[in-house]
Amino acid sequence: HAEADTDFVLPANQEWAKNIIKKWKFSKDTEHQTVPVVVAGEDLTGDRKVIEAIDKSQLKDGVLAGKFANATAEDLIKAVEVAKADVDGWRSKTYKERHALLKQAAIKVRERRDDLIGIAAAEVGKIFTETDVEVSEAVDFIEFYAHSTQYWEKYTNIKFKGKGVGVVVPPWNFPVAIPLGGVSSTLAAGNTVIIKPASAAALTAYEMCKCFWDAGISKNVLQFVPCPGSLAGEHLIANKDVDYVILTGGEDTAYKMLETRSDLLLTAETGGKDATIVTNMADREQAVKNVCLSAFNNSGQKCSATSLLVLEEEVYNDKAFRKALIDTAKSMSVGSVWDFKNRIGTLANPVSGNLKKALESLEGNEEWALAPEYADDNEYMLKPSIKWGVEEGNFIHMNELFGPVLAVMKARDLKHAVEIVNSTGYGLTSGIESLDEREVEYWKANLKAGNLYVNRGTTGAIVLRQPFGGMGKSAIGAGRKVGIFNYITQFVDFTETSKPN
Ligand code: SER
Repeated sequence: HAEADTDFVLPANQEWAKNIIKKWKFSKDTEHQTVPVVVAGEDLTGDRKVIEAIDKSQLKDGVLAGKFANATAEDLIKAVEVAKADVDGWRSKTYKERHALLKQAAIKVRERRDDLIGIAAAEVGKIFTETDVEVSEAVDFIEFYAHSTQYWEKYTNIKFKGKGVGVVVPPWNFPVAIPLGGVSSTLAAGNTVIIKPASAAALTAYEMCKCFWDAGISKNVLQFVPCPGSLAGEHLIANKDVDYVILTGGEDTAYKMLETRSDLLLTAETGGKDATIVTNMADREQAVKNVCLSAFNNSGQKCSATSLLVLEEEVYNDKAFRKALIDTAKSMSVGSVWDFKNRIGTLANPVSGNLKKALESLEGNEEWALAPEYADDNEYMLKPSIKWGVEEGNFIHMNELFGPVLAVMKARDLKHAVEIVNSTGYGLTSGIESLDEREVEYWKANLKAGNLYVNRGTTGAIVLRQPFGGMGKSAIGAGRKVGIFNYITQFVDFTETSKPN
């Protein structure tokens, strides 16, 4: 079964949420302890470079979310040595022993839902409800991966053994669930693990790791090494003693890793240009709601976010639909994560790259149906915007932005709409809004994406029910779906065949 999310309507839970603010909303005077690098069983700070993380909701007051030390080249080299040597014998434990420890870790994650929500709000700018669902997903990941190894042991004569050393390189946008998915699948498969967290979410990753350490999984088995990507490239990815890498991040990073080491076993989920198609046969009110949540929650900083809205002509010309879309987007207030009236918190990084380009230019017949603006004069608080009349091949049609900008396109019919979506070359999530089963069947048969959602938003996959992952430019290397039975087969060797009859 799937772990339940918090019901924030209940008064007791509202009190609980207020206590999160008390603990995690810091002030300028708060003294932060530096989060250490964790290598070879030790917490290391020493004279390592210290990075300060800003609480962007309190940008003007210069409040920090915390600070963390960066690993050195020597730390990374040592981490791989220790992981390979497996001094605590993780690989030789029985699956039952590992399962028991992972179950304990799941209990810790459950117990610390509040702390994980608090640190992700302070560090990454995620509102409470967004991290809450992530924590549920995290619990599902650990329990499911631990459980999935039982199948071979209980029902087959096949023995499996971890490949050795796994390195996890997660993104910052799901700072709990994605790092935890990588760590727990690697551990369940019987490997030691090194996590190189995203610099914009290192503090949250550390809180997540504490759940494993406090559950009794040692700091030799799970090591924590925040550092710049280039250093990790040189001393983790290039190191032949690393058996595989789980990456969730940009295509560029994935290709760079494969260049660094052509024999690398890489499983990478690399973003999307996800679309929702609304046909003439849709419930249009439902479509507006699903699209706005998928496009703008978490400021659109999800690889699964709807960033293209492809409308069949009649819907495109429907003035009431356009107005409802704009009004709904406007109603999603952007601001401090510490104020519960806000639906959207802050961006993790200042606007740059593709997002900047899309915000600053209009091509062909494009117009702003809702122009981009910042809230509170804060460069991290970008309000939802909607570009209308985007044409095929335009920059915003073809490129992932990772921000709260929705591109609206017109299609002659469903077939044309599907062509528009497939032509991006990505293939992660996709949605259709239609009450006509024949349309849905056509779309399912022809739309190239890993996660297809019918009359539902395109974000928020649930472990096992909607195993998450795509195709095309969205999956590089093995790029296997997460939250599915065969996921951890990537990280094991099968060492024995059946006995003779
Ligand atoms: N699994 C997340 C979602 O479905 C994305 O990583 O939104």
